[in-house]
Amino acid sequence: MTGQPPASISRPPEGPDRAAGAERVSPMSAPMSAPESPPQTAAGSAKKRLHIQSWGCQMNVYDSLRMADVLRPLGYEPHDSPVGADMIILNTCHIREKATEKLFSELGRLRALKAETPGMVLAVAGCVAQAEGAEVVARAPYVDLVFGPQSYHKLPEMIARASRAAGHVIETEFETEAKFDLLPGSSAPQGVTAFLTVQEGCDKFCSFCVVPYTRGAEHSRPAAGILGEARRLVGQGTRELTLLGQNVNAYHGQGPDGAEWGLGRLLRALAEIPGVVRLRYTTSHPRDMDDDLIAAHRDVAQLMPFLHLPVQSGSDRMLAAMNRGHTAEEYLRLVDRLRAVRPDLALSSDFIAGHPGERPSDHAATLRLIERVGFAQAYSFKYSPRPGTPAAAQTMQVAEAEQDARLQEIQALLRAQQAAFNAATADRVVEVLFTGPGRHPGQLSGRTPWLQPVHALGPASLIGLVRPVRIEAGHPNSLSATLLPEPEAAAA
Ligand code: 5AD
Ligand code: SF4
Repeated sequence: MTGQPPASISRPPEGPDRAAGAERVSPMSAPMSAPESPPQTAAGSAKKRLHIQSWGCQMNVYDSLRMADVLRPLGYEPHDSPVGADMIILNTCHIREKATEKLFSELGRLRALKAETPGMVLAVAGCVAQAEGAEVVARAPYVDLVFGPQSYHKLPEMIARASRAAGHVIETEFETEAKFDLLPGSSAPQGVTAFLTVQEGCDKFCSFCVVPYTRGAEHSRPAAGILGEARRLVGQGTRELTLLGQNVNAYHGQGPDGAEWGLGRLLRALAEIPGVVRLRYTTSHPRDMDDDLIAAHRDVAQLMPFLHLPVQSGSDRMLAAMNRGHTAEEYLRLVDRLRAVRPDLALSSDFIAGHPGERPSDHAATLRLIERVGFAQAYSFKYSPRPGTPAAAQTMQVAEAEQDARLQEIQALLRAQQAAFNAATADRVVEVLFTGPGRHPGQLSGRTPWLQPVHALGPASLIGLVRPVRIEAGHPNSLSATLLPEPEAAAA
C-alpha cells in the first residue's frame, strides 16, 4: 500500500484501513511557515491551487483524489501547501476521540492565512462535517463549505453557491441515489500500489462506531466501473490494487453480466486483467466472509496471503454487547478455514480495550484469542465514546486508568507477535514488489506478500516489479533484504 497520490493530498501511514489509528496531518501539509512557492493571492493566480489534507482512513485518501478530479475541470490543480492555495479542503475523520478538537485547532491555524488570502475557499469535508456540520459553522464562521462524504459530486455547485452568497454552504444530506452513481471512480494515477473503492457505508451498527451514521448504508459499486478503473490504473503503472470499503466483503455489486457479484467473483475478474500482479482488500467483517471469498484465497494467485479481519474482542459477552453478530469461537473457526485453504495467510485485526461493561475476565478472553490466532500485526484502541452511538449512552463505562492498563497489555502482546512474525522471515527468500525509492541513496522500498515493508539496495528500474530477495533481518516494523543475483533468483 505504498501508492503515491498526487503530491497535494496528504495521506495516512501505510497499512490497512486505519480509520482510528492513522489520523495525522502529513508533515508535507502541516507547516505553514515554509511555503514551497511564494505566497500568492487567490485572485492573482491564473490556475487555481487546491490543497487537500486527508485525515483518517484510506477511504478518505481515495475520496480526496475524487474531489481533486471533480475540481480539475474548474481549473484547480494540486498544491502541496496551504500557503498560496485558492481552496483548502480538510477531509476529516470522526472515528477517533478528539477529532473535532483537532479540526478546530487546524482551522484556527488556517484562519489567519485565509484572512491574508482574498478569495480563498476554506472547506471542511468528511465525517466530522457530516456529524457536526452545524457546530463547525457556529465555531468557525470563516469556513465557507461544510459537506459530508455523500456530497462530493456537488462540489462545483457548492463553490458557486458559496461565491454568490456571502454565507456558508452546508451539505450533509444523504442522497437517495448512491454516491457511486453520481461520482465515478478517480482518474488520477496513484503509483505502483493503488486503492480502489468498491463499497461504501455500513449497516452493521456496532455499538461503538459512528460509521453507519456518517457514511450511510452499505452500497456496492457496479463491477464494470471497478474493472474499468482497474484497467486504467494498470495502464498508469499500478501493479497492486487494494479494494476498499467500510465493509468491503459485504460487496454485492452488479456484474457486467447483470448478475450480482460478491467480492470473490470481483477478485477473480480483477485477477484476469493483465498487469494486475497483486490484490488485497480491506476492511472486512467476519460475518461477510462467504464460501466463495474463502475459496478465492485458495484459487486467486494474485490475492495476497494477508487479511485484515477485525474481531474487536475475544469475549462473547463483549462481542454481543458490541453487536458484532458472531462469537469468539466462530471467529477462530473462520481463521482455521482460511488457513486451511491458504496456510501462509497472515492475519491482522482491530481491538478495542475498555468497551462499556468490559470486565477483567472479558479482557483476559481477548488476550487468549490473540494468543490463539497469532497476529502478524494489529491495531488496538482505547474505547472512546462517540456521540449518538449506543455504547456512549451506557452507564457501565470503564475507568480510563483501567482502559489504559488493558490497552497496554493488548499492545505488548501484539507487538511481541509482530516482532516474532518479522523475525521469522529472516534468512528466507521472499517475493517483494518494489514500490519506490527507499530513504537512503541506492535503496528501494517494497512490500512482501504479507504487507511487511522491505528495504533493499537495488536499481530504480526494479520499481513496479516483483523480485525475490533474501531477508537479512526482521526488525519490529520492517525487514532489510538483499536482492538475489539473477541465477540464484531464477533458482529460488
Ligand atoms: N472507540 C475506539 N475504537 C473505535 N473504533 C471504531 N470506533 C471506535 C471507538 N468508538 C475502532 C474499531 C474499528 C477501527 C476502524 O476503529 O476497532 O475496527
Ligand atoms: Fe463500524 Fe462495525 Fe461497521 Fe466496522 S462493521 S464500520 S466497526 S459499525
